[in-house]
Amino acid sequence: MKIIILLFCFILPLAFADLQVGFYGSSCPKAESIVKQLVQKRFNRDKSITAGLLRLHFHDCAVRGCDASILINSTDNTSEINSGTNRDVRGFDLIDEVKESLEATCPSTVSCADIITLATRDAVALSGGPKYTVPTGRRDGTVSSIDEVNIPGPGSPVSITTQFFASKGITTQEMVTLFGAHTVGVGHCSFFSNRLSSPDQTMDPTLKAKLVKLCGNATNDPATPLDQKTSFLVDNQFYKQILVKKAVLQIDQQLALDTSTKGFVTDFASNDDKFQTSFADAMIKMGKIDVLVGKDGEIRKKCSAFNNRD
Ligand code: HEM
Ligand SMILES: *[C@@H]1O[C@H](CO)[C@@H](O)[C@H](O)[C@H]1NC(C)=O
Ligand SMILES: *[C@@H]1O[C@H](CO)[C@@H](O)[C@H](O)[C@H]1NC(C)=O
Ligand SMILES: *[C@@H]1O[C@H](CO)[C@@H](O)[C@H](O)[C@H]1NC(C)=O
Repeated sequence: MKIIILLFCFILPLAFADLQVGFYGSSCPKAESIVKQLVQKRFNRDKSITAGLLRLHFHDCAVRGCDASILINSTDNTSEINSGTNRDVRGFDLIDEVKESLEATCPSTVSCADIITLATRDAVALSGGPKYTVPTGRRDGTVSSIDEVNIPGPGSPVSITTQFFASKGITTQEMVTLFGAHTVGVGHCSFFSNRLSSPDQTMDPTLKAKLVKLCGNATNDPATPLDQKTSFLVDNQFYKQILVKKAVLQIDQQLALDTSTKGFVTDFASNDDKFQTSFADAMIKMGKIDVLVGKDGEIRKKCSAFNNRD
C-alpha cells in the first residue's frame, strides 16, 4: 500500500511531467497576480489588447505548439514573427513588459509561453468572457523558423481548416468555438477585399456597401471589426452575425454555411452560456497543444530572444 502511495505521489508525476494549475505556486507565488495586474493596466487604456493576445496565443500554439516561438526576433534565421500570416499580430510589447517584471521578481522561472497563456486568459475575463483557471508549466522553445508557419488563411475552405485543427487534436466543434474569438478584434481590408470585388452572394449587401466604402481607394489598409455588433465583448454575438451574412472574413461566413459546422454555429448563437463554457474549455485545450514540459526547452530571460547557448 505504502509503495502504491509513493508511486502516485512522487514517481508518476515525475514520469509524466505535465502542465498543472498553480505550477508557480511555490517557485513564484506572485506570478499570476503580476500578469493579471499588468494586463489590467494595459486593458484600462486599450481594450483591444484582448484581441491582440487571443490571436498571438493562437498563432503561437498553431506552429510548434504553445512554446512562445512566435515571440523570437529574426536574427540569422528569419523567424515566425516575419511570416505574412503573422502580419498585424500584436501584444508583443505587453508580453515583454510582463516578462521584465517577472524577471525582477523571480528570475528565470516563468516561461514566456505561460505568460502568453495567462495574459490571454486574464484579458478574456476583462472583456466579458469566461473566467477560468489554466494549467501552467510550459517551457519555451528553442526553434523559430518562418518556413514552419502554415496556418490556413481567411480564404481557406472549412474542410482545410478542420483538417488543420484536427492535426492539432482539436475537434470540429472546438474549432467553431475557437473561431468565436473573432467576436473581438479587427480584420484589415487586405484579408477580405477579394470578397468585395466579386459578386459574393454570401455577404449582407449593407455590410458589403460599408466595406466597399471603407476599403475602396484606401492605400493604408484600414481595418473593421470582425464582429460588427459588439467588437470589444467576448460573447456569442459573432455567431449571430455570421448567421445573418455579416461575417467580414470569408472563412467566418463559411462556418455558418458549411454543413459540418453550421449546427454548432446555430447552437452557440442561441446560447451564450454554452458558448462561454465551451470557449473556456477550448482555450484551455488550445493552450495544451504540443507543449514543452519538464526539462525540455528553456525558460527564456527575454521573450524575444533565445538564451545564449555556449
Ligand atoms: C485557421 C483559422 C483562422 C483563420 C483563417 C483566421 C484568420 C484571421 C484573420 C485574417 C484575421 C484578421 C487579421 C488582421 O487583419 O489584423 C484574424 C483576426 C483575429 N483572429 Fe483569427 N483566424 C483563425 C483562427 C483564430 C483563432 C483560433 C483565434 C483565437 C482563439 C483567432 C483570433 C483572432 C483575433 C482575436 C483576431 C483579431 C486580431 C486583432 O484585432 O488584432 N483566430 N483572424
Ligand atoms: C534555423 O533555420 C533552419 C532552417 O529552417 C532550422 O532547421 C533551424 O532549426 C532554425 N534554427 C532556429 C534556432 O530556429
Ligand atoms: C475611388 O476613386 C474614384 C476616382 O477618384 C472615385 O470615382 C470613386 O468614387 C472612389 N471610390 C471610393 C469607394 O472611394
Ligand atoms: C526584438 O525586437 C523588438 C522590436 O524591434 C525590440 O524592441 C527588442 O529589443 C528586440 N529584442 C531583442 C532581445 O533584441
